[in-house]
Amino acid sequence: MAPDRTVLGIESSCDETAAAIVDSRRRIRANVILSQHAQHAPFRGVVPELAARSHADRLDLTIQEALREAGCSWEALDAVAATAGPGLLGGVLVGTVTAKCIALVHGLPYIAVNHLEAHALTPRLTDRVEFPYLALLVSGGHSQFVAVAGVGRHRLLGTTRDDAAGEAFDKAARLLGLGFPGGPAIERAARDGDPDRFPLPRPLAGRANADLSFSGLKTALVHVMGRQGSDPLDTRTRADLAASFQKAVAETLADRLEQAVYAFRRLHPAGTVVVLAGGVAANQSLRARLDVVASSHAMRLVAPPPRLCTDNAAMVAWAGLERLAEGSVSPLEEPARARWPLAGGRP
Ligand code: KG4
Ligand code: ZN
Repeated sequence: MAPDRTVLGIESSCDETAAAIVDSRRRIRANVILSQHAQHAPFRGVVPELAARSHADRLDLTIQEALREAGCSWEALDAVAATAGPGLLGGVLVGTVTAKCIALVHGLPYIAVNHLEAHALTPRLTDRVEFPYLALLVSGGHSQFVAVAGVGRHRLLGTTRDDAAGEAFDKAARLLGLGFPGGPAIERAARDGDPDRFPLPRPLAGRANADLSFSGLKTALVHVMGRQGSDPLDTRTRADLAASFQKAVAETLADRLEQAVYAFRRLHPAGTVVVLAGGVAANQSLRARLDVVASSHAMRLVAPPPRLCTDNAAMVAWAGLERLAEGSVSPLEEPARARWPLAGGRP
């Protein structure tokens, strides 16, 4: 990617206030993430109004910190990129308005980034993955298989019919009395658990499409818990339930990935890479399980380091660099969007 360019990225679509400076040599010169987890934890979920106010309070300082860490002046920037959706609208507005002000004041191009595309492009920053590839995006709000043929060139191969994978982790953690966010809490609890103690369903297993479903899994967990008698759950049972749940999600995604590979190969017979992205991609046992599926199809599984799987602004800056390289900058009138599907259509 020539010539040398440096982009400021801003992320504020959920409960992370983040700013990062990344250059076209793939150097992450600063990646500042202020998590709001502690503020939302008492409510056991993200409170949109609280999130927006917190972004408004802290984004300026986060950006200053990123510039300081990178040793970068405003003059050294080539563009400012911000997540413009999908996400919680209040937070997205804070990020995009800030980015547009910076663009106006410093005479920089503004780039509106789709948050899902930023997740999906991250392995090109971390592992130089070439197009086309099959991406499994699994986050708190989305779960989908996408064929990625280029910047802005996506084809939806399958999506969830109900909950997102991260949402399923968060709901299961809540049921089990574990912390928020649920994914990391379940992964920690599962370490000491027996993943085979409780048989849980594998929703849609064996279906000849790449769709996903997680709500039945949550309901099954409620039923299994109801049969356990001890209330509150003892530590061993809780660990076994967490491990069994985590395994069920991994097995479900493994089964669905098989189908997605078939669909992807119909579009791109020579494609060799499966990208795992989004917050849930931080889960180590999921990565290991999906690695086996990818290998069995002579494909390579690429997942960014966990810190770049969960929400961050380095991925937004990188998506901005990719857009900038294609000369695709955004007008300042570009709206903030609560909903912004990445791709339409099916193969
Ligand atoms: O991508 P992300 O940070 O934010 C959204 O765009 O939604 O994803 C957050 C989701 C949460 O549901 C969280 O529980 C889940 O990712 N998550 C995990 C892990 N770390 C975060 N799920 C499973 N295992 C993890 N280690
Ligand atoms: Zn995300």
